Amino acid sequence: MGTSLISSRLLAVSIVGSQEIRNVPIFTELCIIEFMAEITKTIGLSLGADICWPICYEEMLRRLDLAVPSGRDQLRFRTERVTIEPFDLRQTCRYDVVIDRLTHWYHTSREWIKKAIILDGLYVFNNPWTLQSMEKQTTYCAMMKLGLPVPDTWLVPPKSYEPSDDLQPTLRQYARHFDLGTIGKSLGYPLFMKPYDGGGWVGVNKIDDETALRATYEESGKRVMNMQAGVFPHDRFVRCLGLGPQVRFINYDPSAPLHDRYRLDKDFMSKDEAELLEDMTLTINTFFGWDFNSCEVLRKDGVWYPIDFANACPDSQVTSLHYHFPWLILANLRWSIFCAATDRPMRMNYDWEPYFEIARRDLPYRERLRAYAAIARKRLDTEGFEGFCAKHLAHIEEVAMEFFASTEAREAVRKKVTALFPAREIDEFTELFFGRIQRWRTEEALPASRGKS
Ligand SMILES: Nc1ncnc2c1ncn2[C@@H]1O[C@H](COP(=O)(O)OP(=O)(O)O)[C@@H](O)[C@H]1O
Ligand SMILES: [Mg+2]
Repeated sequence: MGTSLISSRLLAVSIVGSQEIRNVPIFTELCIIEFMAEITKTIGLSLGADICWPICYEEMLRRLDLAVPSGRDQLRFRTERVTIEPFDLRQTCRYDVVIDRLTHWYHTSREWIKKAIILDGLYVFNNPWTLQSMEKQTTYCAMMKLGLPVPDTWLVPPKSYEPSDDLQPTLRQYARHFDLGTIGKSLGYPLFMKPYDGGGWVGVNKIDDETALRATYEESGKRVMNMQAGVFPHDRFVRCLGLGPQVRFINYDPSAPLHDRYRLDKDFMSKDEAELLEDMTLTINTFFGWDFNSCEVLRKDGVWYPIDFANACPDSQVTSLHYHFPWLILANLRWSIFCAATDRPMRMNYDWEPYFEIARRDLPYRERLRAYAAIARKRLDTEGFEGFCAKHLAHIEEVAMEFFASTEAREAVRKKVTALFPAREIDEFTELFFGRIQRWRTEEALPASRGKS
């Protein structure tokens, strides 16, 4: 665990003395000294181009002004941005929890985080090893093994290669000619060709026929590609954002402009569907060790197909989340504070056997998913988390109600908009996103807080 800042306050000194007036010296029979230590938990933010959410997270944490009793001590919380600099592998770590947004592409920070987990017991989300090893393709395999309805998927060797000494002998001996058209036919059209380790829609192609398939493969270059059966026609596309045990479902429209893709709809799924998707999301996230992830699912003929769930650094920007943005800030605060307060141990290794044991039982799909989710909720200590929130974070919505109406919140939105939009659109889009946050305040805030401005 990180070195916490401890300021000890002498709270009570009780001296029970027995003084013999005539006999000197006066002596003390019993001396009870009670200390209440104020322990400060430090939450580090390991950031890249993030602008809006850290400002809101930091300001909300400050306004929460937490003093959480822990035994005889009292826990306080502060946040600090993690800087990038040379580090001694044996230096200590001053953070209790780190929320990381860099691991997947900035390797200096990734290596610092791995060192801090191993040597200092740091709790970080997300686990950096899982991001290094769990490509999208591997996650497809794993969830097929658990019996989730991942669409049929193939992997094809790349069209071209970086030259190397061993390349020609290897390909000459072992590479087999294959016919793309046959694979296309077996999957059916439309299908998707997309990088096996992809993200951010880079290199993703919807393919409607064999001619397009061949042309797309020609253009795929050195990337290793998956071909996946298209889930068409689907009547719902939902993004399930998971943060610890908390899950939010967002109706998603990929054809809309970026600022409108996350829909504001409510009640677009039945209760049963929401439960199923929550079980699915928690199963996926705990299986791969992800505290924070987004699972994309498509519904066709009443079946929910997971198509992209290796997103362990999901979009957190107000410019895409807008209405849902306060939920993310609150979920992030709750989970990180809980992890810091309870010294939640970092799970460094996967432990897949309990899930596989359930998979072997051949249960009906819904029952099986429920059984996986029971493991997930236990691993996430859902009960402990909910108890903690009820006891120590009951005021969080009320604080959020005030904060998200403040000029600081508006400025945070504006800063992000300024970074992304042309100058002439800054006012318009700041108002649009801030307005949607106000809608969140009126629609989702505590009933007790309703009406306050
Ligand atoms: N199997 C599929 N069926 C239907 N649509 C798909 C499928 N795979 C991908 N898509 C569409 O392509 C988009 C990008 O693909 P995705 O796998 O999510 O890639 P990325 O990891 O780059 O986000 C998805 O959001 C969805 O709209
Ligand atoms: Mg995606």
